[in-house]
Amino acid sequence: MLSLLVCALLLSPFFGVLAASVSEEQSEAPGIRSLFKSPLNIDKRSPGQLIKSCTVPGTVALTFDDGPYYYIYDLVKMLDAAGAKATFFFNGKNNFCIYDEDNVKRVRFAYNRGHQVASHTWAHMNLTSATISNDKVHDEMWKLDLALTRITGADPAFMRPPYGAYNQTVLNISKDRGQAVVLWDLDSEDTSKTPSVQNSINIYNKKIKENPLPNGRILTLNHETKRKSSSRIHASFFFDDMFQVMPAVLQSLKKAGYRMVTVAECLGKRPYRSVKAPEARTDKWKC
Ligand SMILES: *[C@@H]1O[C@H](CO)[C@@H](O)[C@H](O)[C@H]1NC(C)=O
Ligand SMILES: *[C@@H]1O[C@H](CO)[C@@H](O)[C@H](O)[C@H]1NC(C)=O
Ligand SMILES: *[C@@H]1O[C@H](CO)[C@@H](O)[C@H](O)[C@H]1NC(C)=O
Repeated sequence: MLSLLVCALLLSPFFGVLAASVSEEQSEAPGIRSLFKSPLNIDKRSPGQLIKSCTVPGTVALTFDDGPYYYIYDLVKMLDAAGAKATFFFNGKNNFCIYDEDNVKRVRFAYNRGHQVASHTWAHMNLTSATISNDKVHDEMWKLDLALTRITGADPAFMRPPYGAYNQTVLNISKDRGQAVVLWDLDSEDTSKTPSVQNSINIYNKKIKENPLPNGRILTLNHETKRKSSSRIHASFFFDDMFQVMPAVLQSLKKAGYRMVTVAECLGKRPYRSVKAPEARTDKWKC
């Protein structure tokens, strides 16, 4: 179902950069970090940490997996109009190639408008599947990080494993790479076998009711692309449900007083391991 095509492995001086950023974290004296709660810890990252919920009271992080895809422009505009900043967990080569010019534009559009770009790894593989080696897990992570760094200049500090599937090996590799692993505490069930607009809206409303402000916090799972359960091909993705679910959800969250922020902001962390100017396309931008 998912494309398992693997790109040629591109070697880079990447690991040296990572090692430097990890040791910078570790060189901090133990205990110092705990002295500085927010707002100072906004500059901190938590490599290898497994994150299942937001920590900053009154925040909701809306997240969208599996893109970049056709509908990102309309989605971003809808979020912006509601005063929301979301997080996009992008793939590199899932049902598309992130280096295609259309996808490069989509990624940059979301990023330039202040939405967080994050890793959903390269080819949407199950990182705990018996047939995957540790080296392959590394590859799945760094190829996507490299793509986002080339396209936006931002090197993501957050990774969501495909299917939410992780084990200690995945956590350790993420830690080595200086990334935190993000799950969710609200699944909109938009990729269930029988997705329904009303069901997704109900899930959100129940969660909002159970998590009133000022302390409420919500970390969501949605998909930027959505597939009819019986279809397998690219052209079958559809988005109608999202455009019915999200307006209702944005309204409910706003009414409840939630601040709709990125994953990094709902945790008081830094979204990227580093940020520089975006790069210009070269012939290495290939899937
Ligand atoms: C991923 O692989 C593990 C180990 O084989 C398996 O237990 C799990 O169900 C798989 N997850 C998915 C979503 O395929
Ligand atoms: C995690 O999954 C991978 C792939 O199946 C496997 O090689 C590794 O031993 C697993 N790690 C743990 C700690 O179970
Ligand atoms: C993960 O890292 C910890 C700490 O370095 C180590 O003790 C453990 O053996 C590692 N586990 C795996 C599965 O790599």
